Amino acid sequence: MFVLGIETSCDDTAAALVSDGPCLETNIVYSQVKTHERFGGIVPEIASREHINRIVTVVRAALEPLPEPDALDGIAVTTGPGLIGSLLVGSQFAKGLAFSRNIPWIGINHLEGHLAAALLADDKPSYPHLALIVSGGHSHLFKVSSFGHYQCIGATLDDAAGEAFDKIAKLLDLGYPGGIAIDKHAAQGNPEKIAFPRALPNKKVFDFSFSGLKTAAREHLQKHGQPKGQDLFDFCASVQEAIADVLSKKTIHAAKAHGLEGVVLAGGVAANSRLRTLVQERCDKEGLWAFLPPKPLCTDNAAMVAAAGWMRLSRGERSPWSQGAVSRWPLDKNHAPS
Ligand code: KG4
Ligand code: ZN
Repeated sequence: MFVLGIETSCDDTAAALVSDGPCLETNIVYSQVKTHERFGGIVPEIASREHINRIVTVVRAALEPLPEPDALDGIAVTTGPGLIGSLLVGSQFAKGLAFSRNIPWIGINHLEGHLAAALLADDKPSYPHLALIVSGGHSHLFKVSSFGHYQCIGATLDDAAGEAFDKIAKLLDLGYPGGIAIDKHAAQGNPEKIAFPRALPNKKVFDFSFSGLKTAAREHLQKHGQPKGQDLFDFCASVQEAIADVLSKKTIHAAKAHGLEGVVLAGGVAANSRLRTLVQERCDKEGLWAFLPPKPLCTDNAAMVAAAGWMRLSRGERSPWSQGAVSRWPLDKNHAPS
């Protein structure tokens, strides 16, 4: 079975093709970052228009390896959560294509997509496990009993981890999105140089909070001025350490508290080098396994959507033609809102 995946929930226009397995055939991502960079963040209206401009080219490229046009068996598309205008471009395109080819389509929750990136690995993680989803909009801990069964056991009370990286990078004039820039600068810095706060240190609390870190970073800059050279590297390493320390500790505490034997990382921030190292080291120490997806499958892509769609379509699930897209859709609500 060949399944096309489409992802347009934010600022990446992406399409991918999977075959049975799910096995990745193509993974095409057109990043709009250059378009939004000059605004210091994503402009939703411009993002929707860019998706319209790019989607045909991106989908065509993803479908290239199909032996014949009729070989496509189904289409999966992100229908939430995300920017509503952007979601509508992808979902209406997917429905139109599925209707014209008389094949089924399925709406996928973007967070389930992030988790499904793990299904594309040769060595797939076993169930049940604990998942940490960390992206620009989410910092969530889920107990995953099996594919499609998620229980939220912790979430951010304010900013998401990626949002904290992006906002602090903006204070440092490192451009947008800032997570990757902080990661690069941190590689040459001393993570112990500045003791940034770690919120909610109680081992039994699985919620996160990053607004205090953001305030501490701003106050440090107001007091000491914009760092340059080694001071900038140290500042980035200290911020990154504060975020990665809290995320990795809470993930492991939550896995142990729920009697789970392993953890899966997902979302753009899962590409962070320090977070990956700390999660792996701390899991090894506690006798837990850790699954770290390849970095290109951490940030937004359609391979993960195609993988989730392949799982659902091969079980016979279909979305009705009347289903639309929604900006909010908690992952532990199993049914897709219309
Ligand atoms: O999953 P994603 O691509 O989009 C959303 O669903 O939000 O995540 C984007 C987020 C951004 O906040 C970006 O700064 C962050 O992931 N990010 C990183 C790294 N690469 C991307 N944060 C820290 N270190 C990285 N290497
Ligand atoms: Zn995402």
